[in-house]
Amino acid sequence: MPTPTPLISAEQIRTRVGELAAALAQRIPDGEPLHLVGVLKGGFMFLADLVRALPRPATVDFARLASYGSGTTSSGAVQLVTAPHPVRGRHVVIVEDIVDTGLTLERLRQHLLADQPQSLTTVALLSKPGRASEVPIELVGFTLEDDRFVVGYGLDLDQQHRQLPYIGVLDPS
Ligand code: IMP
Repeated sequence: MPTPTPLISAEQIRTRVGELAAALAQRIPDGEPLHLVGVLKGGFMFLADLVRALPRPATVDFARLASYGSGTTSSGAVQLVTAPHPVRGRHVVIVEDIVDTGLTLERLRQHLLADQPQSLTTVALLSKPGRASEVPIELVGFTLEDDRFVVGYGLDLDQQHRQLPYIGVLDPS
């Protein structure tokens, strides 16, 4: 299996996750807990680091959505495979690994909003360029300059490379 070429180092990720955690905490009134909803599977590592960097109490839940089959292009339709627990009255934070078309995020947002949270904020570690949808994303870690498929730090290609501590690209073979 080829080793991905590093694009964003573990150190860059660590620094940016700290900044995102601080920015996130500032958005929610003091003394009120945050409720993080991580998007599986790709968001597990980001959420684990983000919650440890948060200077505030937080609860954690997960949702699982599916749109990508095997490979690197979206199928378009997004299915909520595992729904998160009810969030009514909470300060909810969606923790996404990467936003490409925004369809996954939009599906989860609509599901959560229907439950009337106190507030809903999205933090995405990565954002791809040229997104057609207008889905709001309050905090973004890194915006990728071109539309390359990235792996590592939770992100996979056919379930491989999630364990890497950095984000990288696979060279075209
Ligand atoms: P969207 O619905 O098109 O925004 O796709 C979001 C989901 O697709 C993410 O949560 C990832 O699981 C997956 N995805 C999109 N781009 C990439 C990538 O470059 N690498 C790995 N997974 C990706």
